[in-house]
Amino acid sequence: MKRLVLLLWTVCLYPALFAQDMPDMWTKSGGHNAAHPGLKWFTSAKFGLFIHWGLYSKLGGRWKDSSYYGSGEWLMNRAKAPAAEYAEVAKTFNPQGFNAEEWAGIAREAGVKYLVITAKHHEGFSMYDSKVTDFDIVDASPYGKDPMKALAKACRDKGIPFGFYYSQFLDWHEPNGGGNSWDFKTKEKDYQQYYRTKSIPQLKELLTNYGQLGLVWFDMPGGLTPEQTKQMIDSLRLLQPNCLFSSRVGHGLGDYRDFGDSEVPPVPIAGAWESIYTHNDSWGYIQHDLNFKSPKEIIHLLSNVASKGGNLMLNVGPDGDGKWPQYSVDYLKATGKWLQQYGESIYGTTYGLLPAQPWGVTTSKPGKLFLHVWEMPANRQLRLPGVDAHVKSVKILGTHQTLQFQQQPGETTVQLPVTLPDTRNTVLVMEYSGNQSDLSQLRTQTVSSQYPQAEIPTIWAVYNGAAKNKLFTWSHYFGDWKHDNLAYGMITPEDALVFPLDIQDVGDYKIILDYACEKSGASQQGVVTLNGQRLPFLTLFTGEYDSHQPLLFIQHAIGNLHVDKPGKHNLAIKPVAGNKKELFRLRKVILQPVK
Ligand code: GLC
Repeated sequence: MKRLVLLLWTVCLYPALFAQDMPDMWTKSGGHNAAHPGLKWFTSAKFGLFIHWGLYSKLGGRWKDSSYYGSGEWLMNRAKAPAAEYAEVAKTFNPQGFNAEEWAGIAREAGVKYLVITAKHHEGFSMYDSKVTDFDIVDASPYGKDPMKALAKACRDKGIPFGFYYSQFLDWHEPNGGGNSWDFKTKEKDYQQYYRTKSIPQLKELLTNYGQLGLVWFDMPGGLTPEQTKQMIDSLRLLQPNCLFSSRVGHGLGDYRDFGDSEVPPVPIAGAWESIYTHNDSWGYIQHDLNFKSPKEIIHLLSNVASKGGNLMLNVGPDGDGKWPQYSVDYLKATGKWLQQYGESIYGTTYGLLPAQPWGVTTSKPGKLFLHVWEMPANRQLRLPGVDAHVKSVKILGTHQTLQFQQQPGETTVQLPVTLPDTRNTVLVMEYSGNQSDLSQLRTQTVSSQYPQAEIPTIWAVYNGAAKNKLFTWSHYFGDWKHDNLAYGMITPEDALVFPLDIQDVGDYKIILDYACEKSGASQQGVVTLNGQRLPFLTLFTGEYDSHQPLLFIQHAIGNLHVDKPGKHNLAIKPVAGNKKELFRLRKVILQPVK
């Protein structure tokens, strides 16, 4: 009887569920100023280099006798270092190891297509020759030269668009700048005066003295109304109409969209946008932080961001001598080497036409689909659900090695060789003619026993009743933000999440729920169902949510399900009747083939 009810429920309700409104994030778009001439180079660049360099680089995460972890460029604020005392650091800042050609050379070898460096960060120190203040590298440090002049030129010589990061509101050195309340009374601050006498004149210097800039990367807006922001932008635009302004200029007035620090949107986003990531766990140099992302992690990040249609700007934090951490040099060069072979699948592409697959992600160009193979299927059959355009050829990108493929209605299967040349990410290029529909937001997710497991983020579920999905933010080290879309608000059995799955292989699957659960949600009952099978579970406490703390997740194995027929199945997760609070905040459901 239960089976019959479920069957009816599945057959009758499934199309209706699909008609539901998509959660918010499916409709968000990227850039605000689609007509801007600079967007042409920006949207095809795909890979940029961010450099955080300032007095904090000299301090390397140490103030007095304490070591700090996380955003090194926030050291002054975290230590509440008095402005006058902190300014003394400039007297010992002498980056003799800085070599503009070398920096631009590594950038080019890394394959980045633009470079953005901090002209002035929140600490207030100008890393260029400013006439607006003496608190700059030329006047206040023994170095006495303008490294930005040299770097702008070196980048330009190597064909790399050059841009400045500029923190327009925060300035812990200036009484009227935003943020420093340990030296200066917030009540007495005159932000307008700060903008008038430092921020805007400095932005004008940067837009006048360093040649054509690719972009100005504003950060942390504050103290200005939308009208005042617009006035500021208009006056700056006159100087360089082709220069892009990042969205952190505030009030939705930027030319392209920046996501939060370390955030990749879960689905493709139209327009011009950028994801930004640290290489270790800090933007500014920290001598004791050696947690650098490996070449494989960078390559996956880059291809993942490109598969959603955006740019990745990866950060490097040189030290106080002007040297980059050796791991950054090595791992960026390794990424560049990968790009030499597979760059066509990144530069100039748009988002992939397929959503993420158990084997990897896709990017596209007209008539070409690039298959980024991160994970080799055990049977070497790479299945492309929904790919039904006329496929002309499949090759390993950058080689003449063609691969066999088969086309059935609604699916193409590529036969992979015994080994792939790059186990981190071998890219295949599929050339096709005719129309290939855009399936990138198709909710049906592939599950297959050819891979260690299928991880399905809750973004792909159909939401019922009060169940919702939103972006949650938390942090590991200070400023080391993490973001993910989580399902929440599930209290009654009506608040079900339904995952439409395409399960390709029969067999048993272990179901694992990846969630965070507060005390109030713990010890409540839920159930996972599939084809009349039920897996009841009790929620487990993981921790209370606080955006400035790590959000603790558990991977809770709740039981096994059997699939006796390949094809479309609905997996539902819901609370049982009688719960008073939301069950949990669910990040993903994992299906692990039982071996
Ligand atoms: C945040 C931080 C800042 C960092 C920036 C990079 O705004 O405050 O320190 O430079 O992110 O995205």
